[in-house]
Amino acid sequence: MVGFTPFDGWLRDHGTPVLGDAPLAQRTTFKIGGPVRWLVSPRDENELAGLLLAAKECDVETRVLGGGSNLLRLDERLDSCVLQLNRLSRCEWSAPRVTVQAGCNLPKVVKESVARGLAGLEPLTGVPGSIAGALIMNAGGRHGEIESVVRWVDVLTPDGEIRRLGRHEIDFRYRWSSLRGQLIVGAELELRPGDPAALKATYDAILADKKATQPMGAPNAGCVFKNPPGGKAGRMIDECGLKGRRIGGAFISPKHANFMINDGGASGDDVMRLIGLARESVRARFGVDLELEILVW
Ligand code: EPU
Repeated sequence: MVGFTPFDGWLRDHGTPVLGDAPLAQRTTFKIGGPVRWLVSPRDENELAGLLLAAKECDVETRVLGGGSNLLRLDERLDSCVLQLNRLSRCEWSAPRVTVQAGCNLPKVVKESVARGLAGLEPLTGVPGSIAGALIMNAGGRHGEIESVVRWVDVLTPDGEIRRLGRHEIDFRYRWSSLRGQLIVGAELELRPGDPAALKATYDAILADKKATQPMGAPNAGCVFKNPPGGKAGRMIDECGLKGRRIGGAFISPKHANFMINDGGASGDDVMRLIGLARESVRARFGVDLELEILVW
C-alpha cells in the first residue's frame, strides 16, 4: 500500500471528493476492471483544469473515463487518477442546435432530439456511452456517425485553457477522430428540424434491428473489432466457427460474433485471450489482421 502523497494532499486541501481504490468493473459495461488508485468526478471545468495541473505537478498519470462502454480495463490495480466526467452533463437546447457537456449520456441526448423533432442524431440510436467518448471515436453505425452533426468541440489544454475547435479543424474517420488524446469538455451539435413521427419510426426501427441482431443486456463492450476495409469482422469470426467459443468467463456471442460477453466471472485476461484467438483464426483463414475497436487499459 502506497502512503499519503502530495496529490492526496492537493485533493484534501481543495475539498475534492475522491474514491480511493475504486473498482472500475462497476463503471464499465463489460463489468471488468481492477481498482484505480484515485477516481474523481470533477464538478465543473475549473475543478477539472485544477486537477489536471495538480496531477501533472505531482507526476500522477491521468486518464479520462467516458461512459465505460467501449473499454476493456484489465484486472491489476491502476496507479493513476481516473477522471470521470459524469458530473459535466449539462445539455442546453436551442433548436436546431444543442450544446452538450462531455459527460452527457449519448442515448439520452439522442432520445430527446427525436422527441423534440430534431434530425441528425437518430442514426446513433442504441449507441451507448458519453458525448465525449462518441466524439473521440466518431461513434455510429450503418446509418451514420456523430461527425455529421458536429459544429464545434471544446477541449481543455494541458495548461488548463479551453480551446474551441471548429468542425473543419477536426479529422473524423471510421471509428476514429483527431480528438483522441485530447480532453473534451463540451460540444455544439447542429441538428435539423424534422418530422417527429418519422424520426420516432426510424429510432424504433434501428432499436428493433439492434435487439434482433446484437446481444443486449449481457455485459459487453459493443463490437470488439473494427470492420476491415471491404469486410465484416462479425461475419469473419462467425465463419471461423467461433460463435459461443469460451475462454474462462468470456465467450463470443452466439448472436453476433463481433461481441464478447462476460458471463459474470470473466477476467480481463480471459477477454484478451479470446481476442487473440479470434484474431489468429481470422488471420489464418482470411489473411486479414483485425484491428481493435475497443480501447484496452
Ligand atoms: N454477420 C454474420 N455473423 C455474425 C455477425 C454478422 O454473418 O455473427 C453478418 C451479418 O449478417 C451482416 C454482416 O455480417 O451481413 C454485418 O453485420 P451487421 O449488420 O450486424 O453489422 P456490423 O458491421 O457487424 C456495424 C457496427 C456496429 C453497428 C451496426 C449497425 C462496426 C464494427 N460495427 O456492425 O457498431 O451497431 O453496424 O449499425 O462497425 C460498435 O461499434 O460497437 C457496434 C456495435
